[in-house]
Amino acid sequence: MANQLFSTKSIPDIIAASEKGEGDAQHITLKRTLSASGLTALGIGAIIGAGLFSITGGAAAYNAGPAVTISFVVAAIGCAFAGLCYSEFSSMIPIAGSAYTYSYATMGEFIAWIIGWDLVLEYAVGAATVSISWSRYFVKFMENFGVHLPPQFVMSPFDSVTTPEGAVITGIFNLPAVIVVIAISLLLIRGTQESSFVNNIIVALKVSVVLIFIALGWAYINPSNYTPYIPDNTGNFGEFGWSGIIRAAGIIFFAYIGFDAVSTAAQEAKNPQRDMPIGILASLAICTVLYILFSHVMLGLANYTEFRGQDGIAPVAVAISHTPYVWLQQGIIIAILAGYSSVVLVMLLGQSRVFFSMSKDGLLPPVFSEVHPEYQTPWKSNALFCVFVGLFAAFVPARVVGELTSIGTLLAFVLVCIGIIVLRRTQPDLPRPFKTPLVPIVPILGVVTCFGMMAALPADTWLRLAIWMAIGFVIYFVYGKKNSKVGKVRSNGVAATTAAR
Ligand code: ALA
Repeated sequence: MANQLFSTKSIPDIIAASEKGEGDAQHITLKRTLSASGLTALGIGAIIGAGLFSITGGAAAYNAGPAVTISFVVAAIGCAFAGLCYSEFSSMIPIAGSAYTYSYATMGEFIAWIIGWDLVLEYAVGAATVSISWSRYFVKFMENFGVHLPPQFVMSPFDSVTTPEGAVITGIFNLPAVIVVIAISLLLIRGTQESSFVNNIIVALKVSVVLIFIALGWAYINPSNYTPYIPDNTGNFGEFGWSGIIRAAGIIFFAYIGFDAVSTAAQEAKNPQRDMPIGILASLAICTVLYILFSHVMLGLANYTEFRGQDGIAPVAVAISHTPYVWLQQGIIIAILAGYSSVVLVMLLGQSRVFFSMSKDGLLPPVFSEVHPEYQTPWKSNALFCVFVGLFAAFVPARVVGELTSIGTLLAFVLVCIGIIVLRRTQPDLPRPFKTPLVPIVPILGVVTCFGMMAALPADTWLRLAIWMAIGFVIYFVYGKKNSKVGKVRSNGVAATTAAR
């Protein structure tokens, strides 16, 4: 029975099922319309978000100082290696999959379960993180109109602010963040086909904000803000100095999450074999350049110490206040809020898709793949995740959910990189329209860089990851292993392929 842990689904079967529309409810009707540039735009739309416009502030204030720009380079290197591995998988299994589907086809059920369970951290907890940042920018937006929302209802119970009169106010829950989660969940339940047109507009808005910020801010950089460029380590690992740069890389890694979303659009790509790798790698490359320039300007406009506390969640507003373009702030905030909404949508949609596949495979209860008779969406799953994500958005501080998202996604990347090496050995003859170069060197470097960033994250983030994975193991052994369709086929005596062949 131990062999069930290594049972794989056959790639031709997965592709055939997806062509019959069994892979994913929300993809049944989609047509192949996306070109390489469309896929790249999709990637950029999913990538640019709270990582850049929000998490950069806290990572600079507490970990790296102005050298957070170097952290962006380090994280980009890890993502590039992982992106090359994702490209091989997504061109080989060009369906609306994810790391979960890839690993079920290649490394077996147990690793697939680990990745699927872990992806909740990337998608669901990630959506909570972006919603919290949305809330912070919304509060700024209202403040600029002279409307001051009650601080208790815009922060988690672990956050506090000090009023100008010196009173300390602690949060109760973050209402705007919850409202965003509910609104987008309702949209998903009602059924949204990610419209390429709307996505392109939002991508254009987000990229414009980044370019305008860089172009206008550049002239107002105060070079003294770069001194010291790498603030001295405080004596604690991860608080400035080089260990701080690496820890900040693990934290702002969040900003790169989303290029794998390109792989979930494989069934909508005109020429997936050729265009998926282009979409993944081009969106990553464009975002890397933008991020480096953006963080350089942000940390040149304001001193990193100004990004402490709640201001670090809306650092763009702080940076702009050092230029004569304060009047632009409201427009930029509107673009950021619109941009965040699309990121939350992509994340919640990705979450429902992964759980849909896991439920269809029998690893999770059928409730996650029950489709609404009229809307054709996995509405119960969307509703359950609305509650789950809403609770995180309401009660957990931005930094905690952000780091948890990063560590979870980094773990998925590590497993995907290992998967490429394993698959080259176990199934060397599978057609690979795109091949990761220099295997095993590139995947090994991917593992080393991504694991390095994980290792630099704080111990309490590791503890949360361990607790989450432990819960996952219990669910797998109590429910998933017994109900797995592949497992049932095995126990009926029909031969299933095993990775151990
Ligand atoms: N990369 C996405 C963001 O920064 C998840 O919001």
